[in-house]
Amino acid sequence: MAGGIVVDVVKSYQAYFAGQWQNSESKETLDIRSPWRHEVIGSVQSVTKNEVDKAIESAHEVQEDWANLSLTQRGQYLDRWADEINKDVNNLAMAVMDEVGKNFDDAKKEVLRTVDLIHYTVQEALHMNGQSMRGDGFPGGSKDKVGIITRVPLGTVLAISPFNYPINLSAAKIAPALMAGNTVIFKPATQGSICGIKMIEAFDRAGFPAGVLSLLTGRGSIIGDYLTEHQGINMISFTGSTKTGQHLSEKSIMIPLVLELGGKDPAIVCENADLDRTAKNIVSGAYAYSGQRCTAVKRVLVNDKVADQLVEKLEPLVESLKVGSPAEGNDIVPLIDDKAADFVQGLIDDAVTKGATLITGSTRNGNLLAPTLLDNVTPDMDIAWVEPFGPVLPIIRVHSNEEAVKIANESDFGLQASVFTQDIDEALEISRGVEAGTVQVNGRPSRGPDNFPFLGVKASGLGTQGVHNSILSMSREKLTVLNLK
Ligand code: NAP
Ligand code: G3H
Repeated sequence: MAGGIVVDVVKSYQAYFAGQWQNSESKETLDIRSPWRHEVIGSVQSVTKNEVDKAIESAHEVQEDWANLSLTQRGQYLDRWADEINKDVNNLAMAVMDEVGKNFDDAKKEVLRTVDLIHYTVQEALHMNGQSMRGDGFPGGSKDKVGIITRVPLGTVLAISPFNYPINLSAAKIAPALMAGNTVIFKPATQGSICGIKMIEAFDRAGFPAGVLSLLTGRGSIIGDYLTEHQGINMISFTGSTKTGQHLSEKSIMIPLVLELGGKDPAIVCENADLDRTAKNIVSGAYAYSGQRCTAVKRVLVNDKVADQLVEKLEPLVESLKVGSPAEGNDIVPLIDDKAADFVQGLIDDAVTKGATLITGSTRNGNLLAPTLLDNVTPDMDIAWVEPFGPVLPIIRVHSNEEAVKIANESDFGLQASVFTQDIDEALEISRGVEAGTVQVNGRPSRGPDNFPFLGVKASGLGTQGVHNSILSMSREKLTVLNLK
């Protein structure tokens, strides 16, 4: 209170350097605005290159000791971390809702999914075993040679996460990296940093040895290249846009890189699809969290014999979506910022100008866009190819399955695809033809369950995530040969 006036003090969050919460020596902070409260909800540190050096140095100092703990001991730390997150679930879900505008139920699901993911990662690592090989299995080999293959950590892993799953996609990198015996430098998305900090507060409460993880906040455009090119980084696990991912792959030299990037997932609807089931999956797939999911349905390729019927079923479902504040449990919430909303609006306007039929939507209030459905979209429209990351779904009518597969594959992206048909042979044939990391039959594209491999091809990624594969990608094989005679 100053002179009778209440002064709102916005919390300034510290970065986490080797077990210590500290302000940056830069004395610079970045304001974080809530995308739907439209006010600053906190500020985070803008760390310096010198601080990056120190954090990476301490990560290396403790890495060997961390790797020398038994798997069970490492797992106990991670289980405690998951338990701390679980105890704080509502607070963390509120942070997700505030900072990235996910509705509370979905935010809470993200946090609980993370608790499960960490516990599962511990169990998976505990149950992964090495291998032994006989030396006489190759011409000229000898049974007196026995190969023992174990997995060893890579060193220090750089984990860079996107805004849209600020808790889950961060932990999905940190947990396998630590279980594999690495130390971690965690750089959250700037819009998502407060969630990352709160998750690492839970990590701190779990009592990990200092230096095992540092959380460095700051704009990717300022410290990203320095982190990526740093000699002390031994592996990078990145999730984000294709543009940033491609930039990272140009900057990083001779170190393993896993990239999970953008998508343009098609829903291919065949002539004999169950259209009610199809429509429900398409609508929840396209519009959940306002389409801000890499795995959102981002185009429909429908056989023109059933296109009118499908559109008739989609329209009321889209119009029944609740639009507004995430605090009121709405399906369609404000996009992450005005720039994102302008981008989506531009794609809609371009399509309508070029002759697409607007079935519903295209109204706007700031960064809150109504769910928009466009029919008769053609290849000359940007919306046919570009990832909008917003609540708009283009429908492209096709004459055959072959044409659907051809258009699906003409995209630069190849994350997931869905096929809707009641004929399993037809589903399998389309699945064989589509270039994507995953093909879903009669279901919407989706990353989970998190024990499944998750990958994109072409511009959608490099390498594979999912709990088991992440542990593999964050470790390498080490062969010891016993020469018996
Ligand atoms: P983004 O803008 O590419 O940012 C992702 C992360 O990269 C952020 O932490 C960002 O930091 C950082 N970054 C920016 N420039 C960097 C640089 N030069 N070096 C190193 N890091 C840098 O992506 P986003 O907007 O957060 O997320 C949306 C995109 O991610 C969509 O395209 C979506 O499809 C994709 N995504 C893919 C998956 C998947 O698993 N395939 C999952 C989720 C999201 P700042 O925030 O500080 O800029
Ligand atoms: O945004 C990209 C996420 O990996 C999507 O995850 O399919 O569970 O929503 P999800």
